[in-house]
Amino acid sequence: MGDATACLPLRRRRRCHRILLAAVFCLYLVLPALSQADSDAVPANTSNSVSFVFPSFYNVVNGSNLLLLQDAGFSQGALQLTPDTVNNANYLINKSGNVFLTRSFKLWEDLPATATANASRRVASFNTSFNINVYRPNGSIPGDGLAFVIARSLDGPPPGSDGAYLGLTNATLNGLSTNQFVALELDTVMDSSVEDPDDNHVGLDINGVVSKVTANLTRLNIEIAPVNATNYTVWINYDGGARAIRLYMGVVGNPKPASPALQASLDLSEFLNQRSFFGFTGSTGETYQLNCVLAWNLTVEILTDDDNGALSGWKLGAVIGAAALVGLALVVGVVVWVCMRRRSVRDVDSRAVVAGTLRSLPGTPREFEFKELRRATKNFDEKMKLGQGGFGVVYRGVLQGENRELAVKKFSRGSSGTDDFLKELTIINRLRHKHLVPLVGWCHEKGILLLVYEYMPNGSLDQHLYGGDNDHRPLLGWERRYNIVAGVGSALHYLHEEYDQLVIHRDLKSSNIMLDAGFGARLGDFGLARALEIDKTSYAELELAGVPGTLGYIAPECFHTGKATRTSDVFGFGAVVLEVVCGRRPRGDNGQFLTDSVWKLHGDGHILDAVDPRLAGDFDAKDAERLLLLGLACSHPIPSDRPKTETILQILSRSVPPPTVPAAKPAFVWPAGPVDDEEDDDLRLMRRAAISMSMSMSMTSSNFASSSGYTTSQSQYSRDGPPQV
Ligand SMILES: *[C@@H]1O[C@H](CO)[C@@H](O)[C@H](O)[C@H]1NC(C)=O
Ligand SMILES: *[C@@H]1O[C@H](CO)[C@@H](O)[C@H](O)[C@H]1NC(C)=O
Ligand SMILES: *[C@@H]1O[C@H](CO)[C@@H](O)[C@H](O)[C@H]1NC(C)=O
Ligand SMILES: *[C@@H]1O[C@H](CO)[C@@H](O)[C@H](O)[C@H]1NC(C)=O
Ligand SMILES: *[C@@H]1O[C@H](CO)[C@@H](O)[C@H](O)[C@H]1NC(C)=O
Ligand SMILES: *[C@@H]1O[C@H](CO)[C@@H](O)[C@H](O)[C@H]1NC(C)=O
Ligand SMILES: *[C@@H]1O[C@H](CO)[C@@H](O)[C@H](O)[C@H]1NC(C)=O
Ligand SMILES: *[C@@H]1O[C@H](CO)[C@@H](O)[C@H](O)[C@H]1NC(C)=O
Ligand SMILES: *[C@@H]1O[C@H](CO)[C@@H](O)[C@H](O)[C@H]1NC(C)=O
Ligand SMILES: *[C@@H]1O[C@H](CO)[C@@H](O)[C@H](O)[C@H]1NC(C)=O
Ligand SMILES: *[C@@H]1O[C@H](CO)[C@@H](O)[C@H](O)[C@H]1NC(C)=O
Repeated sequence: MGDATACLPLRRRRRCHRILLAAVFCLYLVLPALSQADSDAVPANTSNSVSFVFPSFYNVVNGSNLLLLQDAGFSQGALQLTPDTVNNANYLINKSGNVFLTRSFKLWEDLPATATANASRRVASFNTSFNINVYRPNGSIPGDGLAFVIARSLDGPPPGSDGAYLGLTNATLNGLSTNQFVALELDTVMDSSVEDPDDNHVGLDINGVVSKVTANLTRLNIEIAPVNATNYTVWINYDGGARAIRLYMGVVGNPKPASPALQASLDLSEFLNQRSFFGFTGSTGETYQLNCVLAWNLTVEILTDDDNGALSGWKLGAVIGAAALVGLALVVGVVVWVCMRRRSVRDVDSRAVVAGTLRSLPGTPREFEFKELRRATKNFDEKMKLGQGGFGVVYRGVLQGENRELAVKKFSRGSSGTDDFLKELTIINRLRHKHLVPLVGWCHEKGILLLVYEYMPNGSLDQHLYGGDNDHRPLLGWERRYNIVAGVGSALHYLHEEYDQLVIHRDLKSSNIMLDAGFGARLGDFGLARALEIDKTSYAELELAGVPGTLGYIAPECFHTGKATRTSDVFGFGAVVLEVVCGRRPRGDNGQFLTDSVWKLHGDGHILDAVDPRLAGDFDAKDAERLLLLGLACSHPIPSDRPKTETILQILSRSVPPPTVPAAKPAFVWPAGPVDDEEDDDLRLMRRAAISMSMSMSMTSSNFASSSGYTTSQSQYSRDGPPQV
């Protein structure tokens, strides 16, 4: 209805958009100069380093800046790495605790090879200093020590990390290169099992508590845990260029000593995950001490910013020009305002209602200002790029004043209109599941669409499965792989069945599965298919448009219907399952599909030969077979023969036996038997719409209209009778 009348305001709106664009462009010219002026006003944070200053820990909230794990706590304005309750000695023994800054830092980056130098790395420098008070109650024998640490995750101390393991590692893990930590220990117990030289030393620990380098503190008249309590300052300077670390120590109030207590050459990039966390660990054993950090300063060089000073040349000019541009922007603004006023009243009303709906939802993500995100991502700097997907580019962002890392997704294609997009956002917004990447907020300004997600420190699944030549990620072990598959399965079930509105993911693949700090799977990009109306894009076009490697994830019937369904999502899930187990892409460089080769091995009775050889047999054979059969069942060419997510979950939780899979891959037939899926979905949509009044807005969206169109044409297929082979 009303096609002809809808046309006119639309065209007018386009003109407005063009003017708006011009205004935005002007502002772009002005803003960099202004924001540059802003950051000059903050002396402690030069543009290529970031500093944290904790004069005390009175005002710290666990989980905001700092994370306190296991036995660590706050008390009397200090960090207590292990408990500080003096009145109960039993409470003090065999403890271990960790404290970390919650934000991670990029510690190294690869530099391209040049004519004069081979490919090499740039390693971030850092400086830190902290005051400690290692107290032995009643002059008892102290134990065990504390350490300043750079670690790969916020997992906290592993079990059994008390005593000699200093909260860093344990007897099983000690020394493994997969630990990926570097620490400077202050050790007060001589434990020969970890080759301690004495009971009062500092040591450089790499992946284990057997120190690579140690230094005698007694020689310097320093006693870490003296009978008469003493506060010490420890300074650690790491020079990433020279690859050298130095540690100095002295009584609080004294100047930094001229010569270091310990120095060593150290290339952090050899041992650490590219993004790592800074913090402290501590432990007590059968003897105990209070491992107390009183104050902490940390300055870390930021690698992804080297435009420092480059702007200053034209800054003066920009500031002078700014006034003129602001004037121009104002004029444009007035024109835009006039344009906006002419938009239909109904239009404005519906936007207000949607925005209102969004804001009224409890605990919902928030709307960001474009400039906030632009600044957080350093103007969408190439160096902040985390990855590129089918819909756009993902940047790392750090919100000013919040120290919070985010993943900002900037979409290359806009949606058809703000209103439709906002309606879809009301759906995406409310999706909450422990295996979905949490949405932090959105921004839809000036025709640019941005979604802001929580930053996932471990990157995406495909990076872990395939990595690059310079990859230092440890191999994903079997248990992690199984848990990842189980997590993705439960997220998919949530989207398909548990959420009060059907959400088809449509783009399930390993690069869309993120890994959180604990290597739990987090499905990303959910709900975007409808929001961006990509149903209307042909899959072949996607592939041609430079989204390689999607082919193996797309169900065969999609090439005929062009429509994503729950069963096509299950197909994509199957591809991911096989990928995770086999460690191979769904479609190899030679064009061969992984499904075909696994199916062949299954037919030959050697299905376990498909398991990733890099695991070197270190997996549970029964579970591996379970996953492989599940992957094949989900890859069934006939959509109606693929398991539903409910069955998938039962199989993954091992409460039902693995599915039976025919020995040979069945042929794909089209039209495929009765296609009940879509009809179901739309009926369900309507039923749910009736229940969920708050969602009624989205039911009127154009997407709904278009998907009903599909249903009719598909029902016609099924009415034509059974498939003709
Ligand atoms: C430095 O920046 C961080 C966040 O980027 C902020 O929390 C901190 O307060 C800043 N330090 C100073 C001294 O301004
Ligand atoms: C801090 O938060 C973490 C994670 O929520 C929790 O495991 C830990 O017990 C908390 N520590 C303290 C001292 O509250
Ligand atoms: C320290 O000594 C006092 C008195 O000598 C005693 O009451 C207290 O329990 C002792 N504390 C510990 C932790 O041993
Ligand atoms: C403390 O750890 C030691 C060594 O592991 C063990 O022998 C002792 O029983 C533990 N004590 C307590 C109270 O857990
Ligand atoms: C680059 O590496 C090669 C082989 O490792 C070595 O022979 C060559 O001297 C290196 N060149 C430079 C400029 O470091
Ligand atoms: C660390 O301190 C040294 C001087 O002691 C200074 O030259 C260097 O720039 C500092 N590095 C950082 C990352 O702040
Ligand atoms: C941290 O830095 C401030 C000055 O920026 C200094 O006054 C303070 O002593 C430092 N604290 C430590 C523990 O080094
Ligand atoms: C060490 O930690 C790992 C991982 O958490 C655990 O599997 C192992 O049992 C622990 N070893 C000891 C001796 O506690
Ligand atoms: C450490 O230095 C002190 C004093 O110089 C000395 O007595 C002690 O033997 C040294 N310890 C080691 C392990 O060398
Ligand atoms: C500890 O301090 C007291 C009082 O200041 C002093 O008498 C005693 O000698 C000191 N003990 C040590 C081991 O330095
Ligand atoms: C150590 O520092 C704390 C906090 O600044 C202070 O309360 C305490 O008196 C100091 N202790 C000594 C022995 O200097």
